[in-house]
Amino acid sequence: MELMKMSLKLAFLGFLVLNVFAVLSMAQTRRTVHWVLEETNYTRLCSSKNILTVNGSFPGPTLHVHKGETLIVNVQNQGKYNVTIHWHGVKQPRNPWSDGPEYITQCPIQPGANFSYEIIFSTEEGTLWWHAHSDWSRATVHGPIIVYPANGTTYPYSKPSEEFPIVLASWFKGDVMELIQSALESGAEPNQSDAFTINGQTGDLYKNENCTNPGTFRILVDYGKTYLLRIINSIMNEEMFFMVAQHNLTVVGMDGAYIKPIYTDYIMITPGQTMDVLITANQSPSEYYMAARAYAGLQYDNTTTTAIVQYSGNYTAPSTPAFPILPNYTDIDAVTNFTRQMKALNSKEHPVDVPQTVDTKLYITLSVNTLPCVNSSCDGPNGDRLAASLNNISFVTPEVDVLLAYHNQLQGIFTKDFPSQPPYFF
Ligand SMILES: *[C@@H]1O[C@H](CO)[C@@H](O)[C@H](O)[C@H]1NC(C)=O
Ligand SMILES: *[C@@H]1O[C@H](CO)[C@@H](O)[C@H](O)[C@H]1NC(C)=O
Ligand SMILES: *[C@@H]1O[C@H](CO)[C@@H](O)[C@H](O)[C@H]1NC(C)=O
Ligand SMILES: *[C@@H]1O[C@H](CO)[C@@H](O)[C@H](O)[C@H]1NC(C)=O
Ligand SMILES: *[C@@H]1O[C@H](CO)[C@@H](O)[C@H](O)[C@H]1NC(C)=O
Ligand SMILES: *[C@@H]1O[C@H](CO)[C@@H](O)[C@H](O)[C@H]1NC(C)=O
Ligand SMILES: *[C@@H]1O[C@H](CO)[C@@H](O)[C@H](O)[C@H]1NC(C)=O
Ligand SMILES: *[C@@H]1O[C@H](CO)[C@@H](O)[C@H](O)[C@H]1NC(C)=O
Ligand SMILES: *[C@@H]1O[C@H](CO)[C@@H](O)[C@H](O)[C@H]1NC(C)=O
Ligand SMILES: *[C@@H]1O[C@H](CO)[C@@H](O)[C@H](O)[C@H]1NC(C)=O
Ligand SMILES: *[C@@H]1O[C@H](CO)[C@@H](O)[C@H](O)[C@H]1NC(C)=O
Ligand SMILES: *[C@@H]1O[C@H](CO)[C@@H](O)[C@H](O)[C@H]1NC(C)=O
Repeated sequence: MELMKMSLKLAFLGFLVLNVFAVLSMAQTRRTVHWVLEETNYTRLCSSKNILTVNGSFPGPTLHVHKGETLIVNVQNQGKYNVTIHWHGVKQPRNPWSDGPEYITQCPIQPGANFSYEIIFSTEEGTLWWHAHSDWSRATVHGPIIVYPANGTTYPYSKPSEEFPIVLASWFKGDVMELIQSALESGAEPNQSDAFTINGQTGDLYKNENCTNPGTFRILVDYGKTYLLRIINSIMNEEMFFMVAQHNLTVVGMDGAYIKPIYTDYIMITPGQTMDVLITANQSPSEYYMAARAYAGLQYDNTTTTAIVQYSGNYTAPSTPAFPILPNYTDIDAVTNFTRQMKALNSKEHPVDVPQTVDTKLYITLSVNTLPCVNSSCDGPNGDRLAASLNNISFVTPEVDVLLAYHNQLQGIFTKDFPSQPPYFF
């Protein structure tokens, strides 16, 4: 009897010990990084201002993971605004509490507070990004996420010699928080940006009599090698054309998934989108501009940001590097010619399991509408106020986040009658 108890105890102990090992070995694949949100002084376009950053950097730090990994990001808010961080394109299966959109899956991290995000990488592979998801702090609080193939697997294309994140962003001379605040108060469109940046630098075309040396990002390449550009559009509003002078591009991935290669000399990338682009250094060793500018219709920042592809070797750098001929701002043919080539790779190693049966059909329209103001007193079109909608319904920020309200069955935070079609078809 006593002996049996003893062996049971031992077995139980053994189970405990095994469990501890299991937890420890899991912990090894759950790396933790620590981020500090803080105001940092930056000078661009000849003027200085404080911007909100992660650890002082614009763009913010790059997260490097392998497919299937789980990462913990501890965010310490030392800034002066409520902030949340969203892991854009990470599917986070059954892990909504760490998704990030303010008042959807969490209340914001208040100044002085910390929040720990658990980011579960499942099927994604390629390039994604993270960004603040509150007010307009994402203008400066964003950075790349690079998801490498899982251990023991590789890319569905020749391994590039080197890779370069290319982060496109907007630069405003004014304070972005004041800018969105004043737009919300007046009902008007927010001010346009003053520049675009590539990896935090505006590039040579933003010359100004008062400051002769705008910063320009450079990549160094060797003749004959192939490089992977991990391009991220973190611009606030504009869709962008991007080219490298005298070099073709091969788009091999998009939004954290592989695609059938697109051979092209330009891309068009929308805000929030990412593209994995191969480029071979096969031209005479020299310097070549890469450039990006808007594809847009009505009001937009019409400036052009540049960076330089610099070949190694002994040559005299041209006084002006070759410049690409970008499609015109309104060139819709260039856009459709490009976008209609986008197709999932859908190979044996990278299948795409699209559900084949449809249970429910939804027809969802996205639009920017106007709401009337007393005496036409707002600054939007006709004195009205601009407001975005889905099926003619605008989002009003609730007092607690929608996920908590759903989980705790709180009444009066959200309704369940979202229409399955818009009031008008157009
Ligand atoms: C950010 O700063 C904190 C505090 O200085 C530091 O512990 C952490 O390692 C930094 N993280 C990155 C990604 O640089
Ligand atoms: C940023 O730094 C510059 C140069 O050191 C300084 O003139 C400016 O006052 C600073 N701006 C802010 C908002 O602190
Ligand atoms: C910051 O977040 C807290 C908690 O959700 C909220 O009570 C407060 O009003 C927010 N502050 C601002 C300025 O939005
Ligand atoms: C936030 O995290 C930092 C670093 O781990 C710690 O020093 C600080 O005490 C934490 N603050 C709060 C309010 O928990
Ligand atoms: C993948 O391999 C690297 C070293 O080659 C190792 O550090 C990492 O923990 C491995 N990741 C997984 C998920 O096994
Ligand atoms: C927006 O632009 C207008 C006109 O150029 C300017 O007067 C105003 O200060 C800008 N607002 C902000 C918040 O920068
Ligand atoms: C250059 O500086 C002068 C004097 O401060 C100023 O009046 C002018 O507007 C500046 N020019 C530009 C393009 O910023
Ligand atoms: C780019 O591709 C086109 C079409 O395949 C080809 O004609 C052209 O020579 C290529 N240009 C370069 C610089 O490789
Ligand atoms: C950009 O727009 C401004 C007016 O906002 C105009 O003066 C300028 O010519 C435009 N530049 C280009 C390159 O289209
Ligand atoms: C670079 O080329 C120039 C002109 O051809 C030559 O004078 C110089 O010695 C070369 N330098 C090196 C480091 O090869
Ligand atoms: C682009 O616009 C310029 C000036 O508006 C025009 O001269 C040129 O023909 C246009 N190019 C194309 C390809 O439409
Ligand atoms: C788009 O493709 C069509 C036919 O494939 C071609 O004729 C046209 O020149 C292309 N337009 C642009 C702007 O690339």
